[in-house]
Amino acid sequence: MKSIKFIQFLAITALLLAGCKEETAQQEAGAQEAGGLKDAYKDAFYIGAAINADQINEADPKAAALLLKEFNSITPENHMKWMHIQPGPDSFDFALPDKFVALGEKHGMNIVGHTLVWHSQLAPFVEQIKDAAEMEAALTKHINTIVGRYKGRVNGWDVVNEALNEDGTLRETPFLKTMGEGYLEKAFKLAAAADPEAELYYNDYNIEQPAKRAGCIAMIKKLQAAGVKIDGVGIQGHWSIAGLPYEDIEKSVEEFSALGLKVHFTEVDITMLPNPWDLKGAEVNQNFPGSPYMNPYPDSLPVAKQEEQAVAYQRLFELLLKHRDKVERVTFWGIGDGNSWLNGWPIKDRTNYPLLFDRNFEPKPAYNSVMELKVKP
Ligand code: G3I
Repeated sequence: MKSIKFIQFLAITALLLAGCKEETAQQEAGAQEAGGLKDAYKDAFYIGAAINADQINEADPKAAALLLKEFNSITPENHMKWMHIQPGPDSFDFALPDKFVALGEKHGMNIVGHTLVWHSQLAPFVEQIKDAAEMEAALTKHINTIVGRYKGRVNGWDVVNEALNEDGTLRETPFLKTMGEGYLEKAFKLAAAADPEAELYYNDYNIEQPAKRAGCIAMIKKLQAAGVKIDGVGIQGHWSIAGLPYEDIEKSVEEFSALGLKVHFTEVDITMLPNPWDLKGAEVNQNFPGSPYMNPYPDSLPVAKQEEQAVAYQRLFELLLKHRDKVERVTFWGIGDGNSWLNGWPIKDRTNYPLLFDRNFEPKPAYNSVMELKVKP
């Protein structure tokens, strides 16, 4: 009896092990699996995702498989920002950026570097620089080292991020304060010299809005007139279910494209939570106190709200498809709702639902509504 049980135990163990092996093989096969968003939109534009440290490390097999099935472009959500990649004048940390680039290469993905020059998430030593020559030297070392390291491997760089105020004037950043507006030209020229093959982008939020858009166009024209190579503009696309600016989005695609630039939607998400201050965009320094009123869906998003989001995403993608000749890439700022920065901004510890996949990395109605659209070859 005992030996029969033991034989049964062995047989069951063998079956379980075989099952596990099969599952692993399926997961690996899933890596190459077609049928995702990237395949549906392959003739239109790249479908990208920003990925965090866990996703770079492929810590969660479900998220890892989903990334490979649905997306063909990746952007590092945080780990190429100045404070992380160059915390000190002579100290660089390439551990996660190297893994990020290797992951993209392994799977033949479009790789976006984010971001070289940004006033936020700067290393403290850069914030302390008060002198133009010193700042230029810091900028030169930063861009040469980072773009040079990934030469021929990163497809495009967000060279300058969020350099504009809402009225379209230049933001008073440590770079502007020390070097004047020449820092913009310098940054693009350094990046172009460090990797002549890489595409170079200007990236910002709310640049679909009229005043900021006009400022952005004026800034880009100046750069072009100075002989700067700039290949694309990144409209971040942090929008709210309270109202997506469809008309301004369309005008922006047309106007930026008329400058000879490819248009990228670089950080798309749609917040589902209330925002009584009518805050637009993604100014990371803004933070406000929370309350149950401000966090209305702590457990799940009501069906009607899910449908509303599906309609908004579908209308957005219809518009982007209409301009597929001008739009190069649509990147979501995260993979699943659980990882989104919008759970912590502009109020900490809320439960938000801004993306196409839920907290278990399962597709939401918004995913189906984007997949339903017919993308002609
Ligand atoms: O890693 C630390 C962790 O150790 C610590 O315990 C925790 C405590 O708050 O903070 C963690 O760092 C946070 C980091 O995200 C990683 O989660 C930072 O505080 C937080 O400021 C940081 O926020 C990022 C933000 O940029 C600022 O860099 C968001 O994840 C990221 O989504 C967001 O992305 C920006 C784009 O780069 C540019 N456009 C706007 C967009 C949204 O703000």
